[in-house]
Amino acid sequence: MAMKPVTAMKLSPLPRLLAPLLAAIVAALPAAAAPAGAPAAETEAQKAERMQWFADAKFGVFIHWGIYAVDGVDESWSFFNGKMSHADYMKQLDGFTAKRYDPQAWADLIRRSGARYAVLTTRHHDGVALWDSRQGVNVVRDTPAKRDLVGPFVDALRKDGLKVGLYYSLPDWSYADYDVFTRKEKRYELKDEPQRWRRFLSYYQGQLADLQRRYRPDLIWFDGDWEHNAEEWQSAKTKRDLLSRNPGVIVNSRLNEYGDYATPELGLPVVRPDAKWWELCLTMNRSWGYQPRDNDYKTPHQLIRILAQTASMGGNLLLDIGPREDGSIDERQVGILEKMGRWTRKHAEAIFGSVAGIPLDHYAGPSTLSKDGKTLYLFVDGRPGGGELMLKGIDTRVLRARVVGDGRELKPYVSGKYDWSKVPGLLYVPLPDDALDADITVVALELAEPIKLYREESKPIESNG
Ligand code: GLC
Repeated sequence: MAMKPVTAMKLSPLPRLLAPLLAAIVAALPAAAAPAGAPAAETEAQKAERMQWFADAKFGVFIHWGIYAVDGVDESWSFFNGKMSHADYMKQLDGFTAKRYDPQAWADLIRRSGARYAVLTTRHHDGVALWDSRQGVNVVRDTPAKRDLVGPFVDALRKDGLKVGLYYSLPDWSYADYDVFTRKEKRYELKDEPQRWRRFLSYYQGQLADLQRRYRPDLIWFDGDWEHNAEEWQSAKTKRDLLSRNPGVIVNSRLNEYGDYATPELGLPVVRPDAKWWELCLTMNRSWGYQPRDNDYKTPHQLIRILAQTASMGGNLLLDIGPREDGSIDERQVGILEKMGRWTRKHAEAIFGSVAGIPLDHYAGPSTLSKDGKTLYLFVDGRPGGGELMLKGIDTRVLRARVVGDGRELKPYVSGKYDWSKVPGLLYVPLPDDALDADITVVALELAEPIKLYREESKPIESNG
């Protein structure tokens, strides 16, 4: 039940004097009563405002950089799963040099790809922090890199007008006071040694405060929440603290139920996710971190298709790169980002700031809409059958049709429309072969009013008069 603010109630003189005190007590109550994921006072409209840049961004670059790039092994999981010992894994600290690290070149590459934000692994499950953290293992104290790697990248991103996301793993499998060590070994049970767990909580919450104070991220990307429940992690408090330090900060779903948006991983959703905001994180090959032997790269064309599909379902794509230990980036990964950049530059208006498109019943392919609903973008993969697109149930007049990024005017026509029927008829858009993009062509339909879709079931004809 919603509680009336104490001060708004009708009160007799004595309680009226107590009212401010009561109000202060209510305000100080734990926000556990607030809807999951929202700070106590945030309305849906305020949340939408906080989420707006993210909703508009549509494309981000994920960066998994850590000591696992030295031997080219699975990030953190290699020792967790017993593929190598923890001691051998940590020997990679000695080989992590960052000697060719050029944060501005990274940021420029990301900007050229068209991405609007980046998310850097500041500390993976192995516990190796990329900044000069007070506690735990870090690259400044414990590797030849000997410097903060987060700050310069954050500055470079901001210089390029990109939003800053910091990945942070809740678990730290190397930390002596963290309960889980590997898949097979546990250091202790929380119920037996609650003081150790409390030490871990203050360690991780302290690191987050430190990250926020130093870098003021726009987004915090949690990972690994599955190892404990919200109560154990103190997820509600963590979320509240994050927002009180950076009121606009956005948090992904992996903070138990306290995240702001859904985080499907690796698999392109088949049906539109049931979440207002979501982001698909995806590897370019099969690895998050740098693994030179993994040649199983997706092609730029496949990735552009996936970007069109995610935007069509109203989501974002967070595409991963894994730099080498020295900070250089594999040419194959650079090539993919450059090729995506060619396509996103040409088709920017159809992707960035768009909203989900129309159901596949109306157009058999991905589509997006401008926020005002008056421009419909149709993604065309290859040559359409018969050289023309076909749409069903478009109940709004098309003022103009054009090829995005090319400007060519198209001549759509309606077929099978009868005055006595409400069915809008079929809308055809002929598309000349020489207007086709090498990857995916986008056709914009400018409409007389926000799109209306006709979705009634077809009925037998009762009258044709
Ligand atoms: C998984 C893995 C991790 C990776 C992450 C990225 O949760 O634990 O290695 O960083 O996915 O989404």
